[in-house]
Amino acid sequence: MAVKTLEIKPLGGLPNSKVDFGVEIENADVENLTDSDFEVIRDALYNSHVVVLKNQAGVSPKAQYELTKQFDPASDNYGHGKTLDAKRSVLHPDLKTIPHQPQVQVIGNGFYEEYEGLKNITLVHPHHKKFHKEAIPEEDDLAATRFFRWHIDAALYALNPPKVTSLMAVKVPAGRRQTLRYDDGTGEELDVPLGTTAFVSGQNMYNLLSEEDKEFVRTAKVEYAPHPYVWMSPAKSRSDGLGMVSEGVELPLSDLPPINEKNIKILPMCWKNPVTGNLALQIHPSAIKAIHLPNGEVMTDLKEVRDLVHRLQRPAISPEYVYPHDWVEGDLVLFNNQGVLHSVVGAFSPEEKRLFRQCNMASSEGVMGPDGKLY
Ligand SMILES: [Fe+2]
Repeated sequence: MAVKTLEIKPLGGLPNSKVDFGVEIENADVENLTDSDFEVIRDALYNSHVVVLKNQAGVSPKAQYELTKQFDPASDNYGHGKTLDAKRSVLHPDLKTIPHQPQVQVIGNGFYEEYEGLKNITLVHPHHKKFHKEAIPEEDDLAATRFFRWHIDAALYALNPPKVTSLMAVKVPAGRRQTLRYDDGTGEELDVPLGTTAFVSGQNMYNLLSEEDKEFVRTAKVEYAPHPYVWMSPAKSRSDGLGMVSEGVELPLSDLPPINEKNIKILPMCWKNPVTGNLALQIHPSAIKAIHLPNGEVMTDLKEVRDLVHRLQRPAISPEYVYPHDWVEGDLVLFNNQGVLHSVVGAFSPEEKRLFRQCNMASSEGVMGPDGKLY
């Protein structure tokens, strides 16, 4: 077969979009990737944050794993480790592990008799009504949707945040669109394809801040809850998917799995891009527990902590800064998990079938702070 050169072009934005990230690449041969092609893809990932490899329907879970691992060859364990086994975790219902490739998870919607060794699986697309404090009324449910949960793919306890996540669209339901509502008093809305994955740039999130806030986020750190997805399980999300409502219902630490203090993550608010050196505001808003201020004090009032982080992050999820990917079967998306936030979106009916494969691995090293140190 003739060797084709990679063709790279920017992702087309919507009218009025200010999205300045994302590229599409044609002709990548993921099953037989050359070192030079990988370098092109890696360069695209760290400069453009979201890379869509087109026409990859035949790529095996093993090849997807190997490509994802190539960004961090010393990594090998799934990004959430075994934390998914905890029955109370908010992540538990959404993912099924491929038996022969445990770093790769199946997500989606609908019943499948068999897929990659998984038998008789029912996939359920996460619906905001199970996670948000207030849901869109039932009569609007198929027409309107929300950002389910803005996040970084990361255990945020014991394991380092993965560098890269890959998402493969195996089955995509046909072309319905929905109106995404923010329902936060701003009246903001976004027209999205059913089951889009929404991305925003952490670099843009940083750049939109005032000079005073930029200085603050360069020096403050975030303390994440131990076993955060279990800890937060009784709590409910804000309607924009950007963090939790504070009602004092998080599980007490004594009700969590055993905690080793050493495994608690205190991470910089800004993470430095290893290729461009640019800073991204990278905070997982629903897992935060405290803020370590530049003067050494620790902010522990959960409502104040959350309100502060929400004020910093909210401008960058306004519609003009969101890239809602319009999935086509065979799209293999790689994203810079340390440089973007992303969210599941969509409300499906049970017969709307969707099957995706997700892969990421806990990084072999910490995230880079603005000072160039690893945390
Ligand atoms: Fe994710």
